[in-house]
Amino acid sequence: MFAYFFLVIFFAPSCVAFGYFMSWFFPTIEAAQEWGQEVIGIFTAMPFFLTAFVVDASNFAHTVIGLIPGYALFRGFSVLEAEALEDNAYLTFGEIFDPKRDLFWVYFILLVDTVFYWGLVIAAEKLEAPVTKMMNDWRQKGGEVASSGAGSAIPTGGNAVMSTTLGREPDEQVSTEKTDVMSSNNDLSNKLVIQGIEQKFVMQNGKINHAVKGVFLQMPKGEVFGLLGMNGAGKTTLLQTIQGKYVPTSGDCTIDKVSCVKDMDEARKMFGICPQHDVLWDECTSREHLIAFANIRGVEKSKVEKTVDLLLKRLDVSHKANAMSSTLSGDQKRKLSIAMAVIGNPTCVFLDEPTTGLDPNTRRFVWDYIMELKKDRVVVLTTHSMEEADALCSRIGIMVNGELKTLGTPMQLKAMYGSGYRIDLKLKSGSNDNDNDTNASIVQFMKEVYGDDAIVFDSTASTSTICVFDIRRNELNFGEFFEKVEEKREAWGLLDYNINQANLDQVFKNFAKFQASA
Ligand SMILES: Nc1ncnc2c1ncn2[C@@H]1O[C@H](COP(=O)(O)OP(=O)(O)OP(=O)(O)O)[C@@H](O)[C@H]1O
Ligand SMILES: [Mg+2]
Repeated sequence: MFAYFFLVIFFAPSCVAFGYFMSWFFPTIEAAQEWGQEVIGIFTAMPFFLTAFVVDASNFAHTVIGLIPGYALFRGFSVLEAEALEDNAYLTFGEIFDPKRDLFWVYFILLVDTVFYWGLVIAAEKLEAPVTKMMNDWRQKGGEVASSGAGSAIPTGGNAVMSTTLGREPDEQVSTEKTDVMSSNNDLSNKLVIQGIEQKFVMQNGKINHAVKGVFLQMPKGEVFGLLGMNGAGKTTLLQTIQGKYVPTSGDCTIDKVSCVKDMDEARKMFGICPQHDVLWDECTSREHLIAFANIRGVEKSKVEKTVDLLLKRLDVSHKANAMSSTLSGDQKRKLSIAMAVIGNPTCVFLDEPTTGLDPNTRRFVWDYIMELKKDRVVVLTTHSMEEADALCSRIGIMVNGELKTLGTPMQLKAMYGSGYRIDLKLKSGSNDNDNDTNASIVQFMKEVYGDDAIVFDSTASTSTICVFDIRRNELNFGEFFEKVEEKREAWGLLDYNINQANLDQVFKNFAKFQASA
């Protein structure tokens, strides 16, 4: 009985580390999950089959092959069975740990396995950054040409490549923020401070992708900071570098004075992360996910159950508490990911496109929750919805090609880059022989009324039957405007028209055109 017990106890840690070690030989986690069991099974069963039925191995050989933990376990079982059949069972501790008997050497090799494989795993973790750097340097020098694809991050000290500004220079507010961040009087407590984070990837063809180019930002508690930018602008990479997925090529970031580079383990305790794409365990229920995260985040044992229930209820997924995550709908998965990010009350919550793919009702629901979250926390949000950024964010930064280009409250940005009012006039098709002439005459008329500088015709948004232009005026007399347009209804063949106040879409478009595809 005790002999079996010790066998399993010695096997367990070696098996975990061996499984981790074997996972390195698989390209993806999915492949490891699908094939790992079979491969480990073959590795274990084949040698055991050979030594049991084909070759008569010595005790020493059995012990050495026990470097495969599964083999050692099988060997242990067969020793126990054989000795019991010979009326020589392991009954006392003296017999169990007797070096003259076979079982002792099974335990011994399992201990060796544990030390060996855990040693390998720990060494690999420690050596990952320097080895990646070495490989990257080698790839850059050798110009190894392979298919391009996901690259690897250049950790601190990687070859510097000058940051190149594409398109327009960053705004003054960006430089002011940098000066504030770098100021020696800057108090780093109670905020997230990004101090020049830079991230470069070496692609498989040896080229460098400069994904984040020295971003300086600070976000106090109580703020929802919106990080905007076109696809590929570097938002997710910046967040993942702060969160410790990549070692930054240069720069640092502190959360409540704790460095995310030098003291990553401590900093991570203060982060809650809702990644851009849901990362859930298919075979676990919503409740199990939250219990696991509550424990990881250090929620007191006695409070775990209550915290999980409250969160499930607040995010309206209580009815799915015991459903496997693979059976959840898109919005339920997203809500679960948000709950996993906030459980344990982290100081800083990163929400990477939390509402992408949600219906308008659920989106509003999540917005309410985000507004609730910001109390006494830093919330960093990335989104492609300008409406969302406008509704939620206290401040917004727009990234282009890895660089922060502008910064300010939604109001400030609209005042700087919005154009007062945007007007769409819908015209009857064929109302004029030459529709371009109609558009030109409308613009001409508006210029005469509001002045040359105030009217900007948006030729890209206009078509032959839709005439779009901006009136760059902070105030507009609507009565006068309607009167003038109505007078022209017949002449222009006007069907209807819209007036909208400047919105963040216009601000965004000002920057989006500079984003280069990588
Ligand atoms: N592991 C990686 N290896 C190489 N390049 C990468 C890696 N991860 C991101 N990149 C590159 O970094 C740049 C920024 O990508 P990122 O995903 O951060 O953009 P994003 O702003 O989050 O875009 P989206 O709005 O589509 O989510 C892109 O050019 C991308 O190809
Ligand atoms: Mg992203």
